[in-house]
Amino acid sequence: MADDLIITASTKEEKYKQLLPQIEALLNGEDDAVANMANVCAALKYGLNFFWVGFYLVKNNQLVLGPFQGPVACTRINNGRGVCGAAWQKAHTLIVPNVDEFEGHIACSSLTKSEIVIPIFNKNNTVIGVLDVDSDELNSFNDVDEHYLKQILDLILFK
Ligand code: SME
Repeated sequence: MADDLIITASTKEEKYKQLLPQIEALLNGEDDAVANMANVCAALKYGLNFFWVGFYLVKNNQLVLGPFQGPVACTRINNGRGVCGAAWQKAHTLIVPNVDEFEGHIACSSLTKSEIVIPIFNKNNTVIGVLDVDSDELNSFNDVDEHYLKQILDLILFK
């Protein structure tokens, strides 16, 4: 049974630095991707106080909702649609400071103001899903988030 995560730092970067080894310990010895995605969502939502954290996984050429923490969300996203579908199509991270200014943004919740979406690759460099982190404040994400979120994704063994 995992203990609660402990975050005492005040800056976002320091929080990520504190959280990373704790997530590593939480995932250590567990190779089930769904279990690990679920715990990563909870650790990020409650460790860093994000509005919504979740995974969408590629199934039959659509992104399908996977483990998440936060309000209910749309279940299927087509390639190229919304921020998630665009990050999948372009196969690179998208940081959106103001979702109202992103053409085609899919508003699962009207409270989402900014977001970061990071694609997840398999060994053949094909996108197999995305991590979507949403904030209820504008301008919440930058390359610090991208750096640490990618490190966290590297801890999950995707098959
Ligand atoms: N905002 C996303 C859709 C997913 S939800 O926000 C959970 C998008 O435009 O891709």
